[in-house]
Amino acid sequence: MTANRINRQFRLAARPQGMVKESDLAYAEAPVPEPAADEVLVKTSHISLDPSMRGQMENRADYVAPLQIGDVMRAGGAGTVVASNRADLAVGTLVTGSFGMQDYCLSNGRDIPLRRFPAGVDAVTALGVLGGTGMTAFFGMLELGQPRQGNTVVVSGAAGATGSIAGQIARLKGCRVIGIAGSPDKCRWLVDDLGFDAAINYKTQNVGEELDRLCPQGIDVYFDNVGGEILDACLARIAMHARVVICGGISRYNTTGPIPGPRNYFNLVYRRARMEGFIVIDYASRFDQAAGEMKQWIDAGLIRHRATVIDGFTALPKALVQLFSGVNTGKLLVKTD
Ligand SMILES: NC(=O)c1ccc[n+]([C@@H]2O[C@H](COP(=O)([O-])OP(=O)(O)OC[C@H]3O[C@@H](n4cnc5c(N)ncnc54)[C@H](OP(=O)(O)O)[C@@H]3O)[C@@H](O)[C@H]2O)c1
Repeated sequence: MTANRINRQFRLAARPQGMVKESDLAYAEAPVPEPAADEVLVKTSHISLDPSMRGQMENRADYVAPLQIGDVMRAGGAGTVVASNRADLAVGTLVTGSFGMQDYCLSNGRDIPLRRFPAGVDAVTALGVLGGTGMTAFFGMLELGQPRQGNTVVVSGAAGATGSIAGQIARLKGCRVIGIAGSPDKCRWLVDDLGFDAAINYKTQNVGEELDRLCPQGIDVYFDNVGGEILDACLARIAMHARVVICGGISRYNTTGPIPGPRNYFNLVYRRARMEGFIVIDYASRFDQAAGEMKQWIDAGLIRHRATVIDGFTALPKALVQLFSGVNTGKLLVKTD
């Protein structure tokens, strides 16, 4: 049934040196594979762009194996089962999974775990706020950040997929939330639409001075998506028993050479504070329950979400580069059709 159709792909062509480039990925075409016994064939409709993809293009193991030159670029996606040899996954089932930068992907459900879309949601929602980044915000903020009524919470990367949801969850828990983002439009969106109490534009404002003004009692929870100077500025201003959640460090992902350490880490001692990292996949067994709770918040109008959706499969390399220059508000996706 899949004869004569082409599986468009982007494969790793070169290991990035410094800032990732479009030419680090190469377009390729392959035949559409046929599912073996116990397999399904998924046709992707949306492909997710995630900062962690930059690290996977390097030849180093972190929490997943590095890609090899010539491999299909790893990426999360949403799609439809279009051929099935499995009784539990009928043709037409909508699923998310790590399908890679390609139109078609085989899965037996174990090699590439499949998540069905929660009932009544579209691909953008399934991949974004109810997908990996929404889950990261949920578990990172609630399990590690432990926001409490009246706490002052600061979120960096605040207008991105993870940060925008993490900040709103802290608002729901009765916190004062300050977002840090990279444009006036993003800062306006955080305050006017998402209900953040204030926002700092780190590209035009002095982050330290603004934090002093906005957090006179110190920061109880800092949800860090960026690392670098902003992490240091926040560490200098933590309150007693603060929780510093290390979610990501995008400011270092495209740099070469040694990464400077946080200078102000010793405040963790003076303030009896905790700094902790996490990887969201460790919470995978709880994703369905968390997505159910998140969906109730969305349906009740308590959480808002947005996505920047770029059209066309061939836009994928450019979209990956643009992720690092802040093209997106909310989740960044490419619609493949
Ligand atoms: N621990 C985990 O399990 C886990 C899971 C998912 C994601 N993450 C991490 O969470 C963070 C956010 O990921 P996401 O998928 O939600 O991406 P995202 O925030 O939607 O997109 C990335 C944003 O980062 C900002 N940015 C880019 N370069 C920057 C720099 N040098 N300094 C400060 N900000 C910069 C840009 O916004 P501006 O316009 O504001 O600069 C850009 O829009 C990343 O660090 C990612 O690695 C961690």
